[in-house]
Amino acid sequence: MAGHGHHHSGHHGPHEHSAVFDFAEAAPRLRAHADAETDRYRRYAAALAPPGVRVAADIGCGAASMAFALAETLHDAQVVAVDAEPAMIDLVRERAAERGTPVRTALASVDDPAALAAAVGAPADFIWAGHVLHHAADPQQALDHLAGLLAPGGTLAIGEGGTAAQYLPWHLGVGRPGLELRLIEAGSRRLEDESAERGGTPLPYGWNLALERAGLREARSVHELDAAPAPLTGGDLEHAVNALAAKVDWFAHYLSEEDRTAWAELLDEAGPHWLGRRRDLHRLGVDAVHTAVRPR
Ligand SMILES: C[S@@+](CC[C@H](N)C(=O)[O-])C[C@H]1O[C@@H](n2cnc3c(N)ncnc32)[C@H](O)[C@@H]1O
Repeated sequence: MAGHGHHHSGHHGPHEHSAVFDFAEAAPRLRAHADAETDRYRRYAAALAPPGVRVAADIGCGAASMAFALAETLHDAQVVAVDAEPAMIDLVRERAAERGTPVRTALASVDDPAALAAAVGAPADFIWAGHVLHHAADPQQALDHLAGLLAPGGTLAIGEGGTAAQYLPWHLGVGRPGLELRLIEAGSRRLEDESAERGGTPLPYGWNLALERAGLREARSVHELDAAPAPLTGGDLEHAVNALAAKVDWFAHYLSEEDRTAWAELLDEAGPHWLGRRRDLHRLGVDAVHTAVRPR
């Protein structure tokens, strides 16, 4: 549960004390971006899912872009979208109704193997878990649970360990240079505290080894560049500013007073320094996906 046991000298955020993420709060932002992700997830589904998939699951699904990509490209597959957060399940149901796509939903945590097995319902040919395992109380154990849901010969694919997109020049003329690098570092410290609050330990090795330890074989990694040159415009610019605002909000407790002030100016739509008016934002990130197969 969310405790209050961690200590930070000198940093007091405006409102939060627990490092555990509140994903319900993120649902509208995930929803707003979901349609823009459709093509990327269709590409992943085509590249990663083995032939002849009958049962597929998207675990820690959020807006369930992968579940929809699977259901819309693999016509004979039953697809279930699973999340621990009821707000995400509601969101997926709305999207399924809007799209007329038959994606089943189920509430379960990656920390709970019995609930996961009940949610998926049958040995799975393909399981996707995107950016969720690093939030598990015990990531290796959660990976073991997912591996246990696979049919012999089934594939597990996890989206982990990439580089979240960066958007800003090194120096903005507001605050000290390196503002975005310090925001990333703040996120790392929050994740470390989240793990400690949950009584867990962060995974002390890479995802390829974690997949092997889960009893899987043929571990592979695929990296895809997610890039757009400056100037970002329209929806790309809006998404960049919203993504930065969300991180500043989530990691505020771990930022210095000076950086928080700089971010407040940059995110103030009515002020002279608003990021949404700049012509020098770009997007540069790397998506990493690791796959492995359950031996027959
Ligand atoms: C960063 S979002 C990723 C969403 C989506 N998979 C993607 O890659 O865009 C993390 C998601 O995992 C869910 N989540 C967090 N902890 C979880 C847990 N222990 N079990 C299952 N889902 C969890 C959150 O509710 C949220 O929807």
